[in-house]
Order: sequence, then structure tokens, then C-alpha cells
Amino acid sequence: MDFTLLQRGRALLDFEVTARKSVTRLHQQAEAQLATVGLTADTLPDDMEARHHVIDAALAESPVFQARALLGEWCAKQHGRAAQQAFDEIAHDLEPELARLAEGGTTIVEHEFTAPRYWSEIWFHRTHGGWDAGPYNGFVHGELVHKKYVSQVFPGDIYGNRRLVLRELPRQDYRDILEVGTSSGHHTVAIAEIFPDAAITGIDPSIRMLEQARRVANEKGLGWNLHTGIGEDMPMFADASFDLVTAYAIHHEMPPKAIAATFREAFRVLRPGGDMIMADVVRTGDLDKMAAWRMDYAAKWGGEPFWRATAALDMEPMAREAGFVDVRGYAPQPGRDPYVIYGRKPA
Ligand SMILES: C[S@@+](CC[C@H](N)C(=O)[O-])C[C@H]1O[C@@H](n2cnc3c(N)ncnc32)[C@H](O)[C@@H]1O
Repeated sequence: MDFTLLQRGRALLDFEVTARKSVTRLHQQAEAQLATVGLTADTLPDDMEARHHVIDAALAESPVFQARALLGEWCAKQHGRAAQQAFDEIAHDLEPELARLAEGGTTIVEHEFTAPRYWSEIWFHRTHGGWDAGPYNGFVHGELVHKKYVSQVFPGDIYGNRRLVLRELPRQDYRDILEVGTSSGHHTVAIAEIFPDAAITGIDPSIRMLEQARRVANEKGLGWNLHTGIGEDMPMFADASFDLVTAYAIHHEMPPKAIAATFREAFRVLRPGGDMIMADVVRTGDLDKMAAWRMDYAAKWGGEPFWRATAALDMEPMAREAGFVDVRGYAPQPGRDPYVIYGRKPA
């Protein structure tokens, strides 16, 4: 969307990005200090919690590590607030446009559903209020947190990665595509770009995020069918309704049982011969022990309570258990995000 932040809002977000990049540099220095006391990827303990203890003890007196922890804590808690404050400054001018973009070819159907406690009772990413906080949280998350902070501080092209995953698919002729965990529409935009002739349906428990996805689609003149609900229980979709089910960056927001249930539901709503492709964070098992600790540290202090469990999961057996064949779990860019899980429903 086209909008201009005021100077204070721009400065707040620029400061967050600069501060987070400084965290990365401090972290690199802390890891160099670990090497001087003989702690390396080869010597760290296998168990992740034990790894944290050993490293915390080794760096207890390190001003660099203390600065990393302090500044990291600031960024984790403050980036959402900075985005909200930047939005508040322009909210009055933006509201008519946000309201206008609610109208168009994209619809939201709100269903009765019981939000899982892992979603409604835990505020993700150190936010205040979770995904549905505030009437414009979808815009704040999608346009400000994601595009002006996350995309600047995460390595690689986080939007290109979504297209990369979809290009891995074996077919071009999908007619009905379901995206689980649509959120503010970043993966959905990639789906629309790669499969322009397909009908796109999305589901997410967050109405605020879906409202932003609707604005994004309406602005592009697209007609998506959006629904509130959860991937592990999608009664609004009949058996065999889609020929592709996809998701990006939702597994690390869920406990493993919910991922297994989502695979089962994906299988049910797929037509025979249909494909599932989902992608999430790199597997800790594919990283060396230092890199895995680095990711786990950021997740632990960044408000990601399910990251460790899901990043350690081998999803291939889970997908086979749901009924999928030709299952493959792999990283298109070894050692980096994303990890892809693919499966096909037998014809
Ligand atoms: C990190 S966002 C990722 C979104 C998006 N797919 C993208 O590419 O940016 C995670 C989204 O997953 C949603 N979510 C969490 N639990 C879910 C569930 N059980 N079923 C469907 N979506 C879920 C959240 O509401 C949130 O909008």
C-alpha cells in the first residue's frame, strides 16, 4: 500500500532496524569469545537447554554478551510498539483508504470456532495483545513490522523465499488453492503471482490479519475467499475441495500436535492427486550446534514458545501418517530458511 510515515515514525523504525543489526554484530563478537574458551560448534553439548547453560556460564562476565542481551530484549519488546506508534501518527489520514480497501472482490467469512489456547492466550513475538490486538493490527503487522523491520533484519529475501517454495511444486494447473495461516497476505500474494488463474482461499484465526489480507488483495483487484478458523479443524471446507494446500511460516507458531492435525485436515480437503506444500523455519538438525543455539536463543527471547519443538521436528513421518505419499522434507537453500515439507494425496 502507498503511504508515507511521518518523520518520527520513520526514525522509530529506522532505529529499531539499526539496533537489531547491532544485536547481530554483538552476537558475532560473543560467539568469537566463546571460541577463545574452547566452545565451538564441535564442543557444545547436544542438548539445547544444556547448551544454553554452558554458554550463559561462559559469557556471564562478558560485557559484549550483556549488551547483546539488553539490546536484543529492547528490540524484541519495542519493535511492535515502534510500529504502532508510527501507525498512530498517520492513522487519521490513512483510515479512509483502509476503509475503502475493505470493499472489492475479496471477502471474509467469519465462522464460529474455538481459538486454541496456544493462539489466544500467548501473545506472540513479545507483542501486547497478540495477533488481534488493536483494530488495525493487520496493517501494523503486515506493512510496518513485516515490511519495514522483519524483512530488513532477517537474512535473505523473505518474500522471494515464498515464491521459491511455490516454484518447487510439480504442477502449474492448480485451480483451487487453500492457504492455511493467511495472516496479512504475504504468502497469498506470492500464490497469486505464481498461479494467477487459480481461485485462492485462505484461513486464519486472526480477523485483524485477514482484514489486511483483504486490503492487499482488493488493492490488486484480486478476489480471495478468506475465512476465520484454524488449520487443524476446517469444517467450512468439504472433503476434496482443493488441488493444492499450502502454508508459509505457521508451524513454528503451533505445538506439534496442531501441526499433525493440520496435515490431516490438509489431506482431507485435497482432491485425489492434489499436493500439499508447506514451509517453515530451518530444522535445527540441519545446522551446526552453534547456529542452532543462535536461532534458539533469538526465538526463546523473541516470544516464540513453539519454535524449539517445531524446528526439531522431522515432518516427513507426520505427513505420511496423515496419508500423504511422495513425501519430502528438505531445505532448498541448505542451512537456511525455509524448510519445505511436500506430500501428494494418492490419485
Ligand atoms: C508468522 S504468520 C505467517 C503468515 C503468512 N503465511 C506469511 O507468509 O507471512 C503466522 C500466522 O499463522 C496464524 N495461525 C496461528 N495458528 C494457526 C492455526 N492453527 N491455523 C491457521 N493459522 C494459524 C496466525 O494467526 C498468523 O496470522
